Amino acid sequence: MPDDNLKSIAKKSAKPLRVAVLVSGSGSNLQVLINAMQAGALPIEIVGVISNREDAYAITRANDAAIPVAILSHVASGKRMGIKNFETHASAQLSAWQPDLIVLAGFMRVLSGSFIDNAPAPMINLHPALLPAYKGLDTHQRAIQAGERHHGCSIHVVTAELDAGAVLTQALLEINQKDTADSLQARVQQGEHQLLPWTILLIAHGIIDLNNPHNDAESSYLPALPLKLWLND
Ligand code: GRF
Repeated sequence: MPDDNLKSIAKKSAKPLRVAVLVSGSGSNLQVLINAMQAGALPIEIVGVISNREDAYAITRANDAAIPVAILSHVASGKRMGIKNFETHASAQLSAWQPDLIVLAGFMRVLSGSFIDNAPAPMINLHPALLPAYKGLDTHQRAIQAGERHHGCSIHVVTAELDAGAVLTQALLEINQKDTADSLQARVQQGEHQLLPWTILLIAHGIIDLNNPHNDAESSYLPALPLKLWLND
C-alpha cells in the first residue's frame, strides 16, 4: 500500500542504512561508497567489510577508513578456506554487524543457496554485463565477440542461481569499434561507480523495495525495474 510505503521510506531515511560489503579485489566500488558516506552524500554506515582474499587492496581502503574488516581466506593450517568454512565465518560476522543490506562488490566466490537464504539482510550484487545477457565471467570479451552494440553493468538481488535474481538497475553504454575487452572493462567500471551509489540511494529511500524487487504491486506508484542509467562517453 502507498501509505505503508511512505512510512517505510520515512523510517528508512531517518537513520543510515547499515551496509556490509563483500570484496575480493581492488575495492574501487567500495571506495566510491566510502567517499559518498564520508561526504554525507549517501545515507549509509558501512558496518564492515569481508574479504575472501588477504591480498585484496580493498582491505587497505577499509582500514584507511577505520571500517572493521574480516579477512576470511585461510584456515589455521594455511590452506585456502573451502566455501562452507568461509560461509560459516561470514554468517557469524554478518550477524554480529547486523546489516540492513549486504553488497557484493567485486566478490568472486559463488555462495550457496542456504547462505543466501539465511543471510541477515537482503543481498545485492554488481555484475559487469546487461543481465540476463552474459552471466558469469569474461563478459566484456564475450559482448565484443558477439558484436553487441550495447553493454554495461547490472545490480541484481542475489539468489541461489548465479546472476539470476531480479535486476534492479543497469548502466548502459555503446560499444565503440575501437573498444577492446580492457577498454570496455574500464568504461563499464566507471559506470559501476555511478550505478552502485545511485542504487543504494534508491534502496535507502524506498524507491527500490527489496521486498518487492519488481515494484509490480497493483497499488505501487513506483516505476517498474530495472531502472536504467545511460552513460555518456
Ligand atoms: C568490478 O568491475 C565488477 O564488475 C567485477 O569485479 C570488479 C570489482 O572491482 N565483478 P573493484 O574491486 O570494486 O575495484
